[in-house]
Amino acid sequence: MQSVPANQIKPQRTEESRPSAVIAIRGLKISFGDLHVLRGVDLDLYQGENLVVLGRSGTGKSVLIKIIAGLLRPDSGEVDVLGQNVDQLSARELDTLRLKIGFSFQNSALYDSMTVRENLEFPLIRNVRNLSRQEINRSVEEALDDVGLKQTINQMPSELSGGQRKRIGIARTLILKPEIMLYDEPTAGLDPITSSEINNLINEVKERHNTSSIVITHDLTCAKTVGDRIAMLLDGRFEQVGTFEEVFAADDERVKQFYDYKFVD
Ligand SMILES: Nc1ncnc2c1ncn2[C@@H]1O[C@H](COP(=O)(O)OP(=O)(O)OP(=O)(O)O)[C@@H](O)[C@H]1O
Ligand SMILES: [Mg+2]
Repeated sequence: MQSVPANQIKPQRTEESRPSAVIAIRGLKISFGDLHVLRGVDLDLYQGENLVVLGRSGTGKSVLIKIIAGLLRPDSGEVDVLGQNVDQLSARELDTLRLKIGFSFQNSALYDSMTVRENLEFPLIRNVRNLSRQEINRSVEEALDDVGLKQTINQMPSELSGGQRKRIGIARTLILKPEIMLYDEPTAGLDPITSSEINNLINEVKERHNTSSIVITHDLTCAKTVGDRIAMLLDGRFEQVGTFEEVFAADDERVKQFYDYKFVD
């Protein structure tokens, strides 16, 4: 089956059941000096879906989600997040919007000198005023429960495995109950078993909290396991968007060259 360009993607649903876009991007461009990284990106993230972004190193995947989170300003184009145009928000409005976006960074580091509990409390105490000790404790326990690591509450990050650290990093993001999750290479550097735990976690987060997520990855197992749709960033635009099978069945040499994925019916 042929996949279609991003700007022609229309979900095959009736008007009333069509999901709304929680992120809508049109004509997004950004350059660094002579380096034209994003050259007219169009993309929608629909409510409740996991959208996987694939693309070679340096194609602008991390830049894209930094723009979505308002950490970087584009040169031109529209970025609407939860109905708000990110570029037109005041600093205070942007802060409020950011609380609804969970950002799991590519090298998400925990604070090494703090216990797991303290690491999780940190974003809460900083961002939510007037919480009682009881409420804080409950939120920490819930977030740890979400990632299946309640038993690590009093441990130091150095006592955790790489996969556990990654999950605690995700718990620290979930504690603010975000509506949108942005995962930047969640399985990078993890062994296949730990990676599959993270993939399951990403799917569980979606089901439990009805979050909508963008997942950047180079890991095709991750893409296939978590991606409701796959969007492939090629030459600064999303040129292949569809299901995993559609994207990899597409007759596009650039997809084949990079991933060399043999799709088996
Ligand atoms: N703040 C910045 N200033 C200058 N150049 C930047 C900046 N941020 C990113 N770049 C450049 O933009 C390009 C895209 O970077 P980005 O981090 O988005 O790549 P990526 O697709 O996430 O790659 P990887 O898969 O290796 O993580 C790179 O060439 C990078 O050097
Ligand atoms: Mg990156």
